Amino acid sequence: MEPTAIVLAAGEGTRMVSRIPKILHRVAGRSLLAHAIAAVSKAGARHIAVVVGPDRQDVADEAQRHAPGADVFIQTERRGTAHAVLAARKAIERGADLLIVFGDTPLLRAETLKSLAGALSEASVAVLGFRAADPAGYGRLLATNGELAAIREERDATDEERKVDLCNAGAMAIAGKHALALLDRITDRNAKREFYLTDIVSLARADKLKVVVREAAEEEVMGVNDKKQLSIAEAGMQERLRDAAMKAGAVLIAPETVHFSADTKLGRDVVVEPYVVFGPGVTIEEGAVIHSFSHLEGVAVGAGASVGPFARLRPGTKLGNGVRIGNFVETKAATFGDGAKANHLSYVGDATVGANANIGAGTITCNYDGFGKHRTEIGAAAFVGSNSSLVAPVKIGSGAYVASGSVITGNVPDDALGVARGRQVNKEGWARDLRSLKGGQKSED
Ligand code: UD1
Ligand code: CA
Repeated sequence: MEPTAIVLAAGEGTRMVSRIPKILHRVAGRSLLAHAIAAVSKAGARHIAVVVGPDRQDVADEAQRHAPGADVFIQTERRGTAHAVLAARKAIERGADLLIVFGDTPLLRAETLKSLAGALSEASVAVLGFRAADPAGYGRLLATNGELAAIREERDATDEERKVDLCNAGAMAIAGKHALALLDRITDRNAKREFYLTDIVSLARADKLKVVVREAAEEEVMGVNDKKQLSIAEAGMQERLRDAAMKAGAVLIAPETVHFSADTKLGRDVVVEPYVVFGPGVTIEEGAVIHSFSHLEGVAVGAGASVGPFARLRPGTKLGNGVRIGNFVETKAATFGDGAKANHLSYVGDATVGANANIGAGTITCNYDGFGKHRTEIGAAAFVGSNSSLVAPVKIGSGAYVASGSVITGNVPDDALGVARGRQVNKEGWARDLRSLKGGQKSED
């Protein structure tokens, strides 16, 4: 059965020391909440419920953005993990199996959650556990004869129980037909006076229901509580993304210097030189080369294209096959047809560049007049001479030339030459006359 996922995201995240709620901090360009939502969806959850704290419209909006059909529930008081789950009572009442995850464990894999939910074919409750290098602070899984008897929170554990290193990761699957009855029996009789989700284990066992453990690697279940842990999660995620990119056939010359976003897509034989940053929304087709120190975000790069070194491709940039974007070129909302080139020192924004057009060094599309943005259209095989300003809105026809140093304010027809600069005047002997006039007056410094 496809489970209902409940993502707990009502934590205050005080240790983040941030104006932004913890759950909206990003790993690989994607919020912790979005990672949790992606994992449960990929694990097969059909319905998603997100539990958020009061006055957190921003968190609710992020949930809707990443899971448009999700229900957002508000936990008005923070009274424990079971209390948080029960905030989603309306979702639980549908009767589907439950897959409960914490919103702040971005490295949790969908396959792990899938196997956790799958364990409900043999048990009524399945708990995700891990072997902790240092178990302090975690709930301990107390197993007898391979079956789970109880989860003991650190504060309520005996010295003997604290020696157990099999810990509760936080994720849990509960059979739909028992979920609500079990959850409603949880009390706050413990050291913290909270409603502990973990108590569901002993309650299920008292009803003779089977409870099993599925183990995950510690690295995968790490929670983010402060900015140091955020950076550790980021490092773990980057390593995963690099490995995936290389497995999919990309060449990373110095993998540890390349920064990925969770959705970066590199085709086969793409070569990424050292020190490249991929912001969200980047797709690179087969065989393209991204040279060092380039920064790309919201960009599609065609097959065999060459970008950088030192290129900045901003959102809305689309490069056709074989396009060449060279050093110190910035693009934004710009489409380049196949084989077009802008090799040096240019700004191309709000523009269409036709196939095989050549944008000379220092060309600027003047797209902003202080009030609105305007488009520049450059036709196929047009040639824009160096140091030209194209004042938008403006069109350069296909096959047209723009003379170097022009300030183009009017359209240039197909196959025409547009010249828009002062005509050159040579004054014969002028320099020699100046020298004889000033002779001997030259100051030494
Ligand atoms: C919890 C587990 C513990 C486990 C550990 C793993 C319980 C009782 N304990 O402990 O066994 O080893 O996680 O990290 O479940 N939350 C709410 N509302 C609340 C309380 C919590 O939404 O009222 C959310 C938090 O945002 C967080 C998650 O639940 O995402 C865990 O809460 P937290 O207080 O951090 O639990 P721990 O004490 O760490
Ligand atoms: Ca915690």
